[in-house]
Amino acid sequence: KRVILIGAPGSGKGTQSPVIKDEYCLCHLATGDMLRAAVAAKTPLGVKAKEAMEKGELVSDDLVVGIIDEALEKPSCQKGFILDGFPRTVTQAQKLDEMLQKRGIKIDKVLDFAIDDAILEERITGRWIHPSSGRSYHTKFAPPKTPGVDDITGEPLIQRKDDTAAVLKSRLEAFHKQTEPVIDYYTKKGVVAQLSAEKPPKEVTSEVLKVLSS
Ligand code: AP5
Ligand code: ZN
Repeated sequence: KRVILIGAPGSGKGTQSPVIKDEYCLCHLATGDMLRAAVAAKTPLGVKAKEAMEKGELVSDDLVVGIIDEALEKPSCQKGFILDGFPRTVTQAQKLDEMLQKRGIKIDKVLDFAIDDAILEERITGRWIHPSSGRSYHTKFAPPKTPGVDDITGEPLIQRKDDTAAVLKSRLEAFHKQTEPVIDYYTKKGVVAQLSAEKPPKEVTSEVLKVLSS
């Protein structure tokens, strides 16, 4: 399967990805995670992306298109993949079409994580992540067994620099202006399935698995 997850910041894309990944043995390509790793490692890509990310703006299309084009070559991505946070502009969607055409493959489903903006601040400000695995927790909705510590590795959890109420405003603005048109782009192709992302995580998981098995 080749799946795209689209949704506002905090809608649950990163939370549902491991479930889809395990169920279908797919590779999980999250441009946000890859960019954060590049920023932490201070690579040339990270240096270019840092400022926009901290302001809650999108980084340039060329940067993210390059990362995805490279990642699609990985052996682990040949059976299928989950794109989490890409494409987020119509230009990125068009470039993705070219990358897929060149490889003779197609997207099977685009999952639209529908959620009201008002719910997102609490989700974003309560999130704690385990940076090396990308696992995320929430102080109220998905607490780790020990506060501040990853359940599996015992390593410390951190908060993302852009997970503040103020930066969330810019991220939401970017979502509505630049990413919502991407949902229309795929609706015209007839591959979009809308999920109610406001439900508890397990219920969202059942919806996701139902849509993907149909
Ligand atoms: P990115 O990392 O993609 O951030 P985002 O889109 O803002 O999405 P989030 O990771 O915040 O949300 P999520 O849906 O994964 O939520 P999660 O499941 O963790 O991008 C970051 C930045 O990188 C961008 O701002 C941009 O600068 C840059 N970038 C990335 N891709 C780009 C691209 N293609 N083009 C240009 N720039 C790009 O859930 C959130 C919290 O809620 C967690 O604590 C979780 O435990 C909890 N939760 C999840 N589901 C539920 C539920 N059902 N009920 C209750 N709580 C829940
Ligand atoms: Zn995410």
